Amino acid sequence: MVSLKALVGAPLLLLASGAIAVAADRPLQDTPGGGVVKLNLHARQGASVPSKWKRQFEAPTVSYFTGTKYYVNLTVGSNNQTIPLQYDTGSPITWMNPDCSTAPDAENEFCNSHNRYNPLTSNTARLLGRTFNHTYGPGTTLGAQFMDDLSFGGAMVGGYEFGVASSSQGFGDGIFGGGLDPSAKGQVFIDALVAQGRIKSRAVSFDFRTLNRTGSIIYGGFDSKKYKCKLEKITSPGGFNVYLTGIGQTLPNGTKVSYPPTVWNHKNETKGHSFFVDTGSNSILDGGPIYSAIGADYPGTTQQWNPGGFPEYRVPCEAPAGSIDFTFGKITIQVSYRDMEFKKGAECYIPFELKPDFLPGIGMIPDIIGATFLRGAYVVFDLDNKEVWMGESADCGSHIVPISMGKGAVPVVPGCGCETHPTSSGGYKAPPKPTNTKHLH
Ligand SMILES: *[C@@H]1O[C@H](CO)[C@@H](O)[C@H](O)[C@H]1NC(C)=O
Ligand SMILES: *[C@@H]1O[C@H](CO)[C@@H](O)[C@H](O)[C@H]1NC(C)=O
Ligand SMILES: *[C@@H]1O[C@H](CO)[C@@H](O)[C@H](O)[C@H]1NC(C)=O
Ligand SMILES: *[C@@H]1O[C@H](CO)[C@@H](O)[C@H](O)[C@H]1NC(C)=O
Ligand SMILES: *[C@@H]1O[C@H](CO)[C@@H](O)[C@H](O)[C@H]1NC(C)=O
Ligand SMILES: *[C@@H]1O[C@H](CO)[C@@H](O)[C@H](O)[C@H]1NC(C)=O
Repeated sequence: MVSLKALVGAPLLLLASGAIAVAADRPLQDTPGGGVVKLNLHARQGASVPSKWKRQFEAPTVSYFTGTKYYVNLTVGSNNQTIPLQYDTGSPITWMNPDCSTAPDAENEFCNSHNRYNPLTSNTARLLGRTFNHTYGPGTTLGAQFMDDLSFGGAMVGGYEFGVASSSQGFGDGIFGGGLDPSAKGQVFIDALVAQGRIKSRAVSFDFRTLNRTGSIIYGGFDSKKYKCKLEKITSPGGFNVYLTGIGQTLPNGTKVSYPPTVWNHKNETKGHSFFVDTGSNSILDGGPIYSAIGADYPGTTQQWNPGGFPEYRVPCEAPAGSIDFTFGKITIQVSYRDMEFKKGAECYIPFELKPDFLPGIGMIPDIIGATFLRGAYVVFDLDNKEVWMGESADCGSHIVPISMGKGAVPVVPGCGCETHPTSSGGYKAPPKPTNTKHLH
Protein backbone atom coordinates (compact mmCIF):
# COMPACT_ATOMS: atom_id res chain seq x y z
CA MET A 1 0.00 0.00 0.00
CA VAL A 2 2.28 2.48 -1.36
CA SER A 3 -0.06 5.23 -1.10
CA LEU A 4 -0.82 5.58 2.54
CA LYS A 5 2.58 6.81 3.30
CA ALA A 6 2.97 8.56 0.03
CA LEU A 7 -0.22 10.48 0.61
CA VAL A 8 1.09 12.03 3.74
CA GLY A 9 4.75 12.00 2.86
CA ALA A 10 4.63 13.17 -0.70
CA PRO A 11 3.56 16.76 -0.45
CA LEU A 12 6.42 17.60 1.89
CA LEU A 13 8.93 15.87 -0.31
CA LEU A 14 7.65 17.57 -3.39
CA LEU A 15 7.89 20.90 -1.67
CA ALA A 16 11.50 20.16 -1.01
CA SER A 17 12.23 19.10 -4.55
CA GLY A 18 10.60 22.15 -6.11
CA ALA A 19 8.25 22.50 -9.03
CA ILE A 20 9.22 21.77 -12.58
CA ALA A 21 7.40 22.54 -15.77
CA VAL A 22 6.57 20.08 -18.50
CA ALA A 23 9.09 20.45 -21.29
CA ALA A 24 7.28 21.90 -24.28
CA ASP A 25 10.22 22.17 -26.62
CA ARG A 26 9.38 19.28 -28.88
CA PRO A 27 6.72 18.92 -31.57
CA LEU A 28 3.53 17.23 -30.45
CA GLN A 29 2.49 14.09 -32.25
CA ASP A 30 -1.03 13.04 -33.00
CA THR A 31 -2.19 10.54 -30.48
CA PRO A 32 -3.57 7.38 -32.05
CA GLY A 33 -7.13 6.73 -30.95
CA GLY A 34 -8.27 10.35 -30.99
CA GLY A 35 -6.82 11.67 -27.79
CA VAL A 36 -6.87 8.42 -25.87
CA VAL A 37 -3.88 6.80 -24.19
CA LYS A 38 -4.22 3.21 -23.08
CA LEU A 39 -1.88 1.36 -20.75
CA ASN A 40 -2.26 -2.35 -20.20
CA LEU A 41 -2.51 -3.26 -16.56
CA HIS A 42 -1.19 -6.62 -15.52
CA ALA A 43 -2.15 -8.30 -12.24
CA ARG A 44 0.50 -10.28 -10.44
CA GLN A 45 0.72 -12.00 -7.03
CA GLY A 46 2.77 -9.94 -4.55
CA ALA A 47 5.19 -11.43 -2.06
CA SER A 48 4.38 -12.50 1.44
CA VAL A 49 4.97 -10.27 4.40
CA PRO A 50 8.63 -9.46 5.07
CA SER A 51 10.07 -10.49 8.40
CA LYS A 52 11.64 -7.15 9.26
CA TRP A 53 9.07 -4.46 9.74
CA LYS A 54 9.40 -1.17 11.41
CA ARG A 55 6.64 -1.16 13.96
CA GLN A 56 5.20 2.25 13.20
CA PHE A 57 4.50 1.22 9.63
CA GLU A 58 2.82 -2.05 10.37
CA ALA A 59 -0.71 -1.10 11.11
CA PRO A 60 -2.04 0.37 7.93
CA THR A 61 0.18 -1.45 5.52
CA VAL A 62 -0.53 -5.08 6.15
CA SER A 63 -1.62 -5.70 2.60
CA TYR A 64 1.07 -3.74 0.91
CA PHE A 65 3.48 -6.54 0.17
CA THR A 66 0.79 -9.06 -0.36
CA GLY A 67 -2.22 -9.66 -2.46
CA THR A 68 -2.42 -8.71 -6.07
CA LYS A 69 -0.23 -5.98 -7.46
CA TYR A 70 -0.99 -4.02 -10.60
CA TYR A 71 1.69 -3.23 -13.16
CA VAL A 72 2.03 -1.03 -16.19
CA ASN A 73 4.95 -1.05 -18.63
CA LEU A 74 6.43 2.32 -19.36
CA THR A 75 8.75 2.71 -22.31
CA VAL A 76 11.45 5.14 -21.31
CA GLY A 77 14.08 7.03 -23.29
CA SER A 78 15.17 7.34 -26.91
CA ASN A 79 16.00 3.63 -27.03
CA ASN A 80 12.61 2.48 -25.72
CA GLN A 81 13.56 0.79 -22.46
CA THR A 82 10.55 -1.14 -21.16
CA ILE A 83 10.25 -0.78 -17.40
CA PRO A 84 7.45 -2.46 -15.42
CA LEU A 85 6.18 -0.34 -12.55
CA GLN A 86 3.44 -0.73 -9.97
CA TYR A 87 0.55 1.62 -10.72
CA ASP A 88 -0.42 3.77 -7.76
CA THR A 89 -3.04 6.49 -7.43
CA GLY A 90 -1.75 7.24 -3.94
CA SER A 91 0.88 9.68 -5.10
CA PRO A 92 2.16 11.48 -8.21
CA ILE A 93 5.70 10.23 -7.64
CA THR A 94 7.31 7.90 -10.17
CA TRP A 95 10.59 6.20 -9.46
CA MET A 96 12.41 3.12 -10.77
CA ASN A 97 15.35 0.75 -10.18
CA PRO A 98 14.71 -0.58 -6.67
CA ASP A 99 17.59 -2.26 -4.84
CA CYS A 100 16.61 -5.92 -5.26
CA SER A 101 18.95 -7.08 -2.50
CA THR A 102 16.76 -5.30 0.06
CA ALA A 103 13.45 -6.36 -1.51
CA PRO A 104 11.20 -8.66 0.52
CA ASP A 105 12.59 -12.19 0.04
CA ALA A 106 9.78 -13.45 -2.14
CA GLU A 107 10.12 -10.46 -4.47
CA ASN A 108 13.82 -10.92 -5.03
CA GLU A 109 13.76 -13.10 -8.10
CA PHE A 110 10.99 -11.11 -9.69
CA CYS A 111 12.85 -7.88 -8.98
CA ASN A 112 16.04 -9.18 -10.58
CA SER A 113 14.19 -10.34 -13.68
CA HIS A 114 12.91 -6.84 -14.42
CA ASN A 115 14.47 -4.44 -16.87
CA ARG A 116 16.16 -1.52 -15.20
CA TYR A 117 16.35 1.96 -16.62
CA ASN A 118 19.77 2.96 -17.87
CA PRO A 119 19.93 6.71 -18.54
CA LEU A 120 23.39 6.39 -20.12
CA THR A 121 21.96 4.64 -23.18
CA SER A 122 19.14 7.14 -23.79
CA ASN A 123 19.92 10.28 -25.81
CA THR A 124 16.98 12.09 -24.26
CA ALA A 125 17.89 11.45 -20.60
CA ARG A 126 18.73 14.44 -18.46
CA LEU A 127 20.08 14.32 -14.96
CA LEU A 128 18.37 17.04 -12.95
CA GLY A 129 20.19 18.72 -10.12
CA ARG A 130 17.81 17.29 -7.54
CA THR A 131 17.61 14.27 -5.34
CA PHE A 132 14.61 12.48 -3.93
CA ASN A 133 14.05 10.71 -0.65
CA HIS A 134 10.64 9.15 -0.16
CA THR A 135 9.32 7.21 2.79
CA TYR A 136 6.33 4.99 2.09
CA GLY A 137 4.54 2.56 4.38
CA PRO A 138 6.67 -0.43 3.46
CA GLY A 139 10.04 1.18 2.96
CA THR A 140 12.17 4.00 1.76
CA THR A 141 13.82 4.97 -1.48
CA LEU A 142 16.25 7.68 -2.44
CA GLY A 143 18.29 8.71 -5.44
CA ALA A 144 18.55 11.29 -8.20
CA GLN A 145 15.84 12.89 -10.30
CA PHE A 146 16.01 12.37 -14.06
CA MET A 147 13.98 13.64 -16.95
CA ASP A 148 13.31 11.57 -20.06
CA ASP A 149 10.60 10.78 -22.60
CA LEU A 150 7.96 8.18 -21.72
CA SER A 151 5.90 6.35 -24.27
CA PHE A 152 3.11 3.81 -24.25
CA GLY A 153 0.25 2.84 -26.47
CA GLY A 154 1.76 4.89 -29.30
CA ALA A 155 1.69 8.12 -27.30
CA MET A 156 4.66 9.98 -25.92
CA VAL A 157 5.07 12.32 -23.00
CA GLY A 158 8.25 14.31 -23.47
CA GLY A 159 10.43 15.46 -20.64
CA TYR A 160 8.81 13.69 -17.72
CA GLU A 161 10.50 13.78 -14.35
CA PHE A 162 11.05 10.65 -12.27
CA GLY A 163 13.43 9.26 -9.70
CA VAL A 164 16.12 6.65 -10.23
CA ALA A 165 16.89 4.94 -6.95
CA SER A 166 20.45 4.69 -5.76
CA SER A 167 19.21 2.85 -2.74
CA SER A 168 15.92 1.51 -1.48
CA GLN A 169 14.62 -0.68 1.32
CA GLY A 170 11.67 -3.00 1.07
CA PHE A 171 10.71 -2.64 -2.60
CA GLY A 172 10.70 -5.31 -5.29
CA ASP A 173 9.56 -2.91 -7.94
CA GLY A 174 9.47 0.77 -8.79
CA ILE A 175 6.33 2.84 -8.75
CA PHE A 176 4.40 4.70 -11.36
CA GLY A 177 2.66 7.59 -9.61
CA GLY A 178 -0.73 8.04 -11.24
CA GLY A 179 -1.99 10.17 -8.37
CA LEU A 180 -2.63 13.85 -7.98
CA ASP A 181 -0.49 16.29 -6.09
CA PRO A 182 -2.40 18.13 -3.37
CA SER A 183 0.49 20.55 -2.95
CA ALA A 184 0.41 21.38 -6.70
CA LYS A 185 4.20 21.59 -6.67
CA GLY A 186 5.34 18.67 -8.77
CA GLN A 187 4.67 17.19 -12.17
CA VAL A 188 1.47 15.17 -12.41
CA PHE A 189 1.22 12.56 -15.15
CA ILE A 190 -2.35 13.26 -16.23
CA ASP A 191 -1.62 17.01 -16.35
CA ALA A 192 1.39 16.35 -18.58
CA LEU A 193 -0.82 14.31 -20.94
CA VAL A 194 -3.25 17.24 -21.21
CA ALA A 195 -0.51 19.86 -21.49
CA GLN A 196 1.13 17.94 -24.34
CA GLY A 197 -2.13 17.43 -26.21
CA ARG A 198 -2.31 13.67 -25.77
CA ILE A 199 -5.76 13.75 -24.14
CA LYS A 200 -8.43 16.45 -24.08
CA SER A 201 -9.21 16.66 -20.38
CA ARG A 202 -8.15 15.15 -17.08
CA ALA A 203 -10.14 11.93 -17.26
CA VAL A 204 -8.96 8.38 -16.64
CA SER A 205 -10.71 5.02 -16.40
CA PHE A 206 -9.77 1.85 -14.55
CA ASP A 207 -10.36 -1.75 -15.55
CA PHE A 208 -8.78 -3.95 -12.87
CA ARG A 209 -8.78 -7.69 -13.45
CA THR A 210 -7.98 -10.67 -11.33
CA LEU A 211 -4.59 -12.40 -10.91
CA ASN A 212 -2.61 -13.06 -14.10
CA ARG A 213 -5.15 -11.21 -16.24
CA THR A 214 -4.65 -7.98 -18.14
CA GLY A 215 -6.91 -4.97 -17.69
CA SER A 216 -6.26 -1.37 -18.59
CA ILE A 217 -5.87 2.21 -17.53
CA ILE A 218 -7.26 4.51 -20.21
CA TYR A 219 -6.37 8.18 -20.11
CA GLY A 220 -8.80 10.44 -21.97
CA GLY A 221 -11.34 7.71 -22.62
CA PHE A 222 -13.06 4.54 -21.50
CA ASP A 223 -13.93 1.12 -22.89
CA SER A 224 -17.70 0.64 -23.23
CA LYS A 225 -17.30 -3.14 -23.52
CA LYS A 226 -15.91 -3.51 -20.02
CA TYR A 227 -18.96 -2.73 -17.93
CA LYS A 228 -22.40 -4.14 -17.50
CA CYS A 229 -25.43 -2.20 -18.69
CA LYS A 230 -24.32 1.42 -18.27
CA LEU A 231 -22.19 3.71 -16.16
CA GLU A 232 -23.88 5.74 -13.43
CA LYS A 233 -22.66 9.11 -12.26
CA ILE A 234 -21.92 8.93 -8.55
CA THR A 235 -21.22 11.65 -6.03
CA SER A 236 -17.57 12.40 -5.43
CA PRO A 237 -15.68 14.93 -3.35
CA GLY A 238 -13.29 15.19 -6.32
CA GLY A 239 -9.97 13.53 -7.09
CA PHE A 240 -9.80 9.76 -6.73
CA ASN A 241 -12.49 9.81 -4.04
CA VAL A 242 -16.01 8.42 -3.87
CA TYR A 243 -18.91 8.53 -1.44
CA LEU A 244 -20.08 5.10 -0.32
CA THR A 245 -23.81 5.13 0.48
CA GLY A 246 -24.34 1.52 1.50
CA ILE A 247 -22.69 -1.84 1.94
CA GLY A 248 -24.03 -5.37 2.15
CA GLN A 249 -23.39 -8.97 1.21
CA THR A 250 -25.08 -11.57 -0.92
CA LEU A 251 -24.56 -14.81 1.00
CA PRO A 252 -23.94 -18.17 -0.72
CA ASN A 253 -27.65 -19.06 -0.45
CA GLY A 254 -28.68 -15.81 -2.13
CA THR A 255 -29.81 -14.03 1.02
CA LYS A 256 -28.95 -10.35 0.92
CA VAL A 257 -27.66 -8.70 4.05
CA SER A 258 -27.54 -4.91 4.15
CA TYR A 259 -25.95 -2.89 6.90
CA PRO A 260 -27.32 0.34 8.36
CA PRO A 261 -25.51 3.70 8.14
CA THR A 262 -24.18 3.24 11.67
CA VAL A 263 -21.97 0.53 10.14
CA TRP A 264 -20.81 2.19 6.92
CA ASN A 265 -21.08 5.88 7.81
CA HIS A 266 -19.95 6.14 11.40
CA LYS A 267 -18.73 9.70 10.85
CA ASN A 268 -22.24 10.73 9.73
CA GLU A 269 -21.01 12.41 6.54
CA THR A 270 -24.02 13.89 4.73
CA LYS A 271 -23.24 12.65 1.23
CA GLY A 272 -21.98 9.23 2.32
CA HIS A 273 -18.71 7.88 3.63
CA SER A 274 -15.83 9.27 1.59
CA PHE A 275 -13.18 6.77 0.55
CA PHE A 276 -9.96 7.30 -1.34
CA VAL A 277 -9.64 4.86 -4.26
CA ASP A 278 -6.11 3.52 -3.92
CA THR A 279 -4.80 1.25 -6.65
CA GLY A 280 -1.62 0.62 -4.66
CA SER A 281 -3.48 -1.28 -1.96
CA ASN A 282 -5.65 -4.37 -1.68
CA SER A 283 -7.15 -3.14 1.57
CA ILE A 284 -10.47 -1.64 2.43
CA LEU A 285 -9.33 0.43 5.38
CA ASP A 286 -11.78 2.13 7.67
CA GLY A 287 -11.85 3.25 11.25
CA GLY A 288 -15.43 2.14 11.87
CA PRO A 289 -17.54 -0.99 12.22
CA ILE A 290 -17.47 -2.12 8.55
CA TYR A 291 -14.63 -4.49 9.35
CA SER A 292 -16.45 -6.48 12.02
CA ALA A 293 -19.88 -6.35 10.34
CA ILE A 294 -18.56 -7.91 7.14
CA GLY A 295 -16.43 -10.42 9.03
CA ALA A 296 -19.38 -11.60 11.11
CA ASP A 297 -21.42 -12.61 8.06
CA TYR A 298 -18.75 -13.61 5.54
CA PRO A 299 -18.67 -17.43 5.35
CA GLY A 300 -15.88 -19.24 7.17
CA THR A 301 -13.91 -16.33 8.64
CA THR A 302 -11.25 -16.83 11.31
CA GLN A 303 -10.13 -13.67 13.07
CA GLN A 304 -6.45 -13.42 13.84
CA TRP A 305 -3.95 -10.73 14.74
CA ASN A 306 -1.27 -9.57 12.36
CA PRO A 307 2.29 -8.82 13.50
CA GLY A 308 1.32 -5.17 14.01
CA GLY A 309 -1.30 -6.22 16.54
CA PHE A 310 -4.28 -5.46 14.31
CA PRO A 311 -7.09 -7.92 13.63
CA GLU A 312 -7.73 -9.45 10.22
CA TYR A 313 -10.00 -12.15 8.80
CA ARG A 314 -8.52 -15.26 7.26
CA VAL A 315 -10.93 -17.14 4.99
CA PRO A 316 -10.92 -20.44 3.08
CA CYS A 317 -9.10 -20.04 -0.27
CA GLU A 318 -11.95 -21.72 -2.12
CA ALA A 319 -14.32 -18.75 -2.19
CA PRO A 320 -18.00 -19.72 -2.13
CA ALA A 321 -20.55 -18.05 -4.40
CA GLY A 322 -21.63 -14.69 -3.06
CA SER A 323 -20.51 -11.10 -3.10
CA ILE A 324 -19.80 -7.96 -1.16
CA ASP A 325 -22.22 -5.33 -2.40
CA PHE A 326 -21.01 -1.71 -2.42
CA THR A 327 -23.59 1.00 -3.09
CA PHE A 328 -22.74 4.43 -4.46
CA GLY A 329 -25.95 6.39 -4.98
CA LYS A 330 -27.92 4.69 -7.75
CA ILE A 331 -25.52 1.85 -8.41
CA THR A 332 -24.56 -1.23 -6.45
CA ILE A 333 -21.33 -2.97 -7.39
CA GLN A 334 -21.31 -6.63 -6.48
CA VAL A 335 -17.75 -7.84 -6.08
CA SER A 336 -17.68 -11.63 -5.99
CA TYR A 337 -16.22 -13.26 -2.90
CA ARG A 338 -13.66 -14.77 -5.25
CA ASP A 339 -12.48 -11.35 -6.40
CA MET A 340 -12.56 -9.99 -2.87
CA GLU A 341 -10.15 -12.53 -1.46
CA PHE A 342 -6.42 -12.09 -1.74
CA LYS A 343 -3.49 -14.30 -0.88
CA LYS A 344 -0.68 -13.81 1.61
CA GLY A 345 1.68 -16.73 1.25
CA ALA A 346 -0.54 -19.81 1.17
CA GLU A 347 -3.37 -18.22 3.14
CA CYS A 348 -6.31 -16.17 1.98
CA TYR A 349 -7.82 -13.05 3.51
CA ILE A 350 -10.59 -10.59 2.94
CA PRO A 351 -9.34 -7.03 2.55
CA PHE A 352 -11.35 -5.34 5.31
CA GLU A 353 -8.98 -3.88 7.87
CA LEU A 354 -9.28 -1.60 10.83
CA LYS A 355 -7.15 1.49 11.04
CA PRO A 356 -6.66 4.43 13.32
CA ASP A 357 -7.45 7.86 11.86
CA PHE A 358 -4.08 9.13 12.92
CA LEU A 359 -0.69 7.57 13.54
CA PRO A 360 2.14 9.42 15.25
CA GLY A 361 5.00 9.91 12.82
CA ILE A 362 2.73 9.29 9.82
CA GLY A 363 -0.21 11.63 10.24
CA MET A 364 -3.81 11.33 9.12
CA ILE A 365 -4.66 8.01 7.50
CA PRO A 366 -7.45 8.30 4.94
CA ASP A 367 -10.16 5.68 4.61
CA ILE A 368 -9.23 3.59 1.61
CA ILE A 369 -10.99 1.37 -0.86
CA GLY A 370 -8.39 -0.56 -2.81
CA ALA A 371 -7.83 -2.80 -5.79
CA THR A 372 -9.94 -5.69 -4.47
CA PHE A 373 -12.99 -3.47 -4.90
CA LEU A 374 -11.86 -2.29 -8.32
CA ARG A 375 -11.89 -5.89 -9.60
CA GLY A 376 -15.69 -5.76 -9.53
CA ALA A 377 -16.07 -2.26 -10.91
CA TYR A 378 -15.39 -0.18 -13.99
CA VAL A 379 -14.64 3.38 -12.91
CA VAL A 380 -14.17 6.61 -14.86
CA PHE A 381 -12.72 9.58 -13.00
CA ASP A 382 -13.55 12.87 -14.73
CA LEU A 383 -11.20 14.91 -12.59
CA ASP A 384 -11.86 18.26 -14.28
CA ASN A 385 -15.58 18.03 -13.54
CA LYS A 386 -15.10 16.30 -10.18
CA GLU A 387 -17.34 13.52 -11.43
CA VAL A 388 -17.02 9.77 -11.11
CA TRP A 389 -18.84 7.27 -13.31
CA MET A 390 -19.11 3.69 -12.21
CA GLY A 391 -20.48 0.40 -13.51
CA GLU A 392 -20.16 -3.27 -12.67
CA SER A 393 -17.21 -4.89 -14.39
CA ALA A 394 -17.90 -7.03 -17.48
CA ASP A 395 -16.07 -8.07 -20.63
CA CYS A 396 -17.77 -8.32 -24.01
CA GLY A 397 -15.04 -7.05 -26.32
CA SER A 398 -13.45 -3.65 -26.65
CA HIS A 399 -14.75 -0.30 -27.86
CA ILE A 400 -12.79 2.72 -26.77
CA VAL A 401 -14.71 5.96 -26.44
CA PRO A 402 -12.83 9.27 -26.14
CA ILE A 403 -13.73 11.75 -23.42
CA SER A 404 -13.84 15.38 -24.53
CA MET A 405 -13.65 18.47 -22.38
CA GLY A 406 -16.04 20.79 -20.56
CA LYS A 407 -19.22 19.90 -18.74
CA GLY A 408 -20.71 16.51 -19.57
CA ALA A 409 -17.44 15.34 -21.11
CA VAL A 410 -18.14 11.67 -20.39
CA PRO A 411 -20.68 10.47 -22.98
CA VAL A 412 -23.37 7.98 -21.99
CA VAL A 413 -22.65 4.78 -23.92
CA PRO A 414 -24.41 1.46 -23.31
CA GLY A 415 -22.10 -1.27 -22.08
CA CYS A 416 -22.51 -5.02 -22.18
CA GLY A 417 -26.01 -6.40 -21.58
CA CYS A 418 -28.00 -5.47 -18.52
CA GLU A 419 -29.47 -8.90 -17.88
CA THR A 420 -26.34 -10.98 -17.60
CA HIS A 421 -24.36 -10.90 -14.41
CA PRO A 422 -20.78 -11.12 -15.60
CA THR A 423 -19.03 -9.65 -12.53
CA SER A 424 -15.42 -8.96 -13.08
CA SER A 425 -12.83 -11.26 -14.32
CA GLY A 426 -13.26 -14.51 -12.49
CA GLY A 427 -16.31 -15.91 -14.25
CA TYR A 428 -18.23 -16.05 -11.00
CA LYS A 429 -21.81 -17.12 -11.47
CA ALA A 430 -24.43 -15.11 -9.66
CA PRO A 431 -26.31 -16.80 -6.86
CA PRO A 432 -30.08 -17.17 -7.22
CA LYS A 433 -32.09 -13.96 -7.06
CA PRO A 434 -32.40 -12.47 -3.59
CA THR A 435 -35.00 -14.14 -1.47
CA ASN A 436 -35.19 -11.87 1.51
CA THR A 437 -33.34 -8.96 3.02
CA LYS A 438 -32.38 -8.77 6.61
CA HIS A 439 -31.15 -5.73 8.44
CA LEU A 440 -28.57 -6.25 11.09
CA HIS A 441 -27.95 -4.25 14.22
C1 LIG B 1 5.39 -5.75 -19.92
O1 LIG B 1 6.35 -6.27 -20.76
C2 LIG B 1 6.74 -7.61 -20.45
C3 LIG B 1 7.91 -7.99 -21.33
O2 LIG B 1 7.72 -7.58 -22.63
C4 LIG B 1 5.52 -8.50 -20.62
O3 LIG B 1 5.86 -9.83 -20.26
C5 LIG B 1 4.41 -8.00 -19.71
O4 LIG B 1 3.25 -8.76 -19.89
C6 LIG B 1 4.11 -6.56 -20.00
N1 LIG B 1 3.15 -6.06 -19.05
C7 LIG B 1 2.15 -5.27 -19.40
C8 LIG B 1 1.29 -4.74 -18.31
O5 LIG B 1 1.90 -4.97 -20.56
C1 LIG C 1 10.85 3.62 -30.10
O1 LIG C 1 9.43 3.55 -30.24
C2 LIG C 1 8.90 4.52 -31.13
C3 LIG C 1 7.39 4.49 -31.05
O2 LIG C 1 6.91 3.16 -31.03
C4 LIG C 1 9.43 4.26 -32.53
O3 LIG C 1 8.95 5.25 -33.43
C5 LIG C 1 10.97 4.33 -32.49
O4 LIG C 1 11.49 3.99 -33.76
C6 LIG C 1 11.51 3.38 -31.45
N1 LIG C 1 12.95 3.61 -31.31
C7 LIG C 1 13.81 2.61 -31.16
C8 LIG C 1 15.25 3.01 -31.05
O5 LIG C 1 13.46 1.45 -31.12
C1 LIG D 1 15.80 10.71 3.99
O1 LIG D 1 14.73 11.19 4.78
C2 LIG D 1 14.69 10.61 6.08
C3 LIG D 1 13.42 11.07 6.75
O2 LIG D 1 13.27 12.45 6.63
C4 LIG D 1 15.96 10.97 6.86
O3 LIG D 1 15.93 10.34 8.11
C5 LIG D 1 17.15 10.46 6.06
O4 LIG D 1 18.35 10.86 6.72
C6 LIG D 1 17.14 11.00 4.65
N1 LIG D 1 18.21 10.37 3.92
C7 LIG D 1 19.03 11.04 3.13
C8 LIG D 1 20.13 10.27 2.49
O5 LIG D 1 18.90 12.24 2.93
C1 LIG E 1 -0.58 -16.91 -11.97
O1 LIG E 1 0.68 -17.11 -12.59
C2 LIG E 1 1.64 -17.69 -11.73
C3 LIG E 1 2.98 -17.65 -12.44
O2 LIG E 1 2.86 -18.13 -13.73
C4 LIG E 1 1.19 -19.10 -11.36
O3 LIG E 1 2.12 -19.69 -10.49
C5 LIG E 1 -0.17 -18.99 -10.63
O4 LIG E 1 -0.67 -20.27 -10.35
C6 LIG E 1 -1.18 -18.23 -11.50
N1 LIG E 1 -2.35 -17.98 -10.67
C7 LIG E 1 -3.59 -18.03 -11.15
C8 LIG E 1 -4.68 -17.76 -10.19
O5 LIG E 1 -3.83 -18.22 -12.34
C1 LIG F 1 -28.87 -18.28 4.22
O1 LIG F 1 -27.68 -18.44 4.95
C2 LIG F 1 -27.64 -17.68 6.16
C3 LIG F 1 -26.23 -17.83 6.74
O2 LIG F 1 -25.85 -19.16 6.76
C4 LIG F 1 -28.71 -18.14 7.10
O3 LIG F 1 -28.69 -17.38 8.29
C5 LIG F 1 -30.06 -17.96 6.41
O4 LIG F 1 -31.09 -18.46 7.24
C6 LIG F 1 -30.08 -18.67 5.07
N1 LIG F 1 -31.31 -18.28 4.39
C7 LIG F 1 -32.05 -19.15 3.68
C8 LIG F 1 -33.25 -18.59 3.04
O5 LIG F 1 -31.73 -20.32 3.58
C1 LIG G 1 -23.39 9.93 14.36
O1 LIG G 1 -24.75 9.82 14.69
C2 LIG G 1 -25.00 8.87 15.73
C3 LIG G 1 -26.49 8.68 15.88
O2 LIG G 1 -27.17 9.86 15.59
C4 LIG G 1 -24.30 9.30 17.01
O3 LIG G 1 -24.51 8.36 18.02
C5 LIG G 1 -22.81 9.43 16.73
O4 LIG G 1 -22.13 9.93 17.86
C6 LIG G 1 -22.55 10.36 15.55
N1 LIG G 1 -21.14 10.27 15.23
C7 LIG G 1 -20.40 11.34 14.95
C8 LIG G 1 -18.95 11.08 14.61
O5 LIG G 1 -20.85 12.46 14.94
